[in-house]
Amino acid sequence: MEFSEVTRTHTSGDTLVHALRDVSFRVDYGELVAVMGPSGSGKSTLLNLAGALDSPTSGRVLVAGVDISNASSVERARLRRQSIGFVFQDYNLVSSLTAKENVALPLELDGTPASEAAEQASIMLARLGLLDRGDEFPDRLSGGQRQRVAIARSVVGSRSLILADEPTGALDSALGEEVIALLRAQIGPDCGGILVTHDPRYAAWADRTVFLRDGRIVAGTEPLSEVESLIAPGSGHSPGTAS
Ligand SMILES: Nc1ncnc2c1ncn2[C@@H]1O[C@H](COP(=O)(O)OP(=O)(O)OP(=O)(O)O)[C@@H](O)[C@H]1O
Ligand SMILES: [Mg+2]
Repeated sequence: MEFSEVTRTHTSGDTLVHALRDVSFRVDYGELVAVMGPSGSGKSTLLNLAGALDSPTSGRVLVAGVDISNASSVERARLRRQSIGFVFQDYNLVSSLTAKENVALPLELDGTPASEAAEQASIMLARLGLLDRGDEFPDRLSGGQRQRVAIARSVVGSRSLILADEPTGALDSALGEEVIALLRAQIGPDCGGILVTHDPRYAAWADRTVFLRDGRIVAGTEPLSEVESLIAPGSGHSPGTAS
């Protein structure tokens, strides 16, 4: 995933809002990048662009080799179905579908036969410790279980980019850490990820952290003293319960 000089502006009445200004950065396969910054700094805008839910006003966004800045809405929709997994703060599970049906949904939308989609959904739920909850509807699941279902749905099939916007939501910190660990475990040789978080403890699970302020990247890429002072000392991929 690569942003080259990406700007996204919105018009709000007569005023122009710069949600992102001239942002360049990339996320490689195998890499989890945390994005931090104050409210309104452009974090969700960045994620929506990376996820082909939005197009830049100027600049270029490449995802899995596809230039989404010029892609048609049909191409962008296909990219979202096949290559990109989203985890939203409010889970976005479909309340009329069971946990397993929720996980199978992206595969079915993409034409996978129902039986095979159900099989893959079961495997993914089992990996996240939820096999016995597969037939429950979301309102019968705890917050942590719902979030794990949302993660299962975001990674089922072969995703090359996982995007998570405050995926820990209102979870307590032990459960939040578990969710981030699961997310971390999905990143691999064919998959990268972006994690938007306000919590330095969760950002410590990422390979590096990018800081946004007023739509610009103000710090990031390589480990910086500013980053290191925010995260637990000695933390790497498995900060565990260090605080
Ligand atoms: N559709 C829109 N129309 C007008 N302004 C918008 C729109 N979407 C975002 N903005 C503005 O762009 C800026 C960045 O918004 P964004 O949602 O990316 O922030 P954020 O960093 O995700 O904030 P938060 O931490 O509160 O979720 C804000 O000033 C916001 O008001
Ligand atoms: Mg946001």
